[in-house]
Amino acid sequence: MLVLGIESSAHTFGVGIVRNGKILANPKAMFKIENKGLIPAEVAETHAVNAAGVVSDALELAGIKMREIQGVGYTRGPGLGPCLQVGELTAKTIAKRLGVAIAQVNHAMAHVEITKKFAKMQDPLVLYVSGGNSQILKKNEKFLHYSVLGETFDIGVGNMLDSFAREIGLNPAWGSTVARLAEGGRYVKLPYKVKGMDFSFTGIATSAAKMKERESVEDLCFSVQETAFSMLCEATERAMLLTRSRELCVCGGVAQSNRLRQMLGLLAKEHKVRFGYAPDQFNADNGAMIAFVAEKMLKRGMESKLSECGIEQRYRIEDAVIA
Ligand code: FE2
Repeated sequence: MLVLGIESSAHTFGVGIVRNGKILANPKAMFKIENKGLIPAEVAETHAVNAAGVVSDALELAGIKMREIQGVGYTRGPGLGPCLQVGELTAKTIAKRLGVAIAQVNHAMAHVEITKKFAKMQDPLVLYVSGGNSQILKKNEKFLHYSVLGETFDIGVGNMLDSFAREIGLNPAWGSTVARLAEGGRYVKLPYKVKGMDFSFTGIATSAAKMKERESVEDLCFSVQETAFSMLCEATERAMLLTRSRELCVCGGVAQSNRLRQMLGLLAKEHKVRFGYAPDQFNADNGAMIAFVAEKMLKRGMESKLSECGIEQRYRIEDAVIA
């Protein structure tokens, strides 16, 4: 089956094309955040301007014509309302014009499923870490969904890194800048908050920002990153022991972090657990992961009527059925 998938939940408008699980194209256009953060209406406007061009790029890269598409998928949520709406409308327009089936995809599940494909894993324990989300997930066979074993009490680890970067005036104010500066840093004590398999990140960013006059930028970047990632590792280790998982994977935007992957890799090695992750372009938000899950859904008859399609800003992974 040839399926086109659209991702638009945050700053990326991505279009993927998949045929029988094989990714044929995965172009994207990104809203430039600069240093003021995400303003949903502004991002959505950019998505609307970019939508047609990214769809054309995807078709060209895949070497197919629009009329060959046999199914469409889009991100139903979670995400920013105005941004999700642009993806929904684009997908519905294409599905209606071609008269093909449409599937509403959960964004978190798409991150998990595309990672399982690349890591060649069937039933891993999953650490899902991105701007807006930080969760520990495991498939629940009985109910055909993912259970959330642990998650952030407040913000996602990616948002914490970005807001810390903004607070101390880094340019660009992103987690990747924090990671680069962290390489030359030493540890200073910051709040470490793990409760069972849940964790909280806001305290780290606020405390570190208050220390900016007396500690070096490198030391703060190093300490923020080490503290946050150690918390994620502690909670993941607890979940690994509880579920007796033999496989561990990390997915989502923050899974691009070499340091986090190194720490999780060591953890997995210690427990003789197989560890894996997807190539970076599939950890960042992308259309291919949506097309990949949409194809599975459509093959299993999990399609929606156009009138049933919508968006859900807080669409939780446990509310989505695994395809
Ligand atoms: Fe994401």
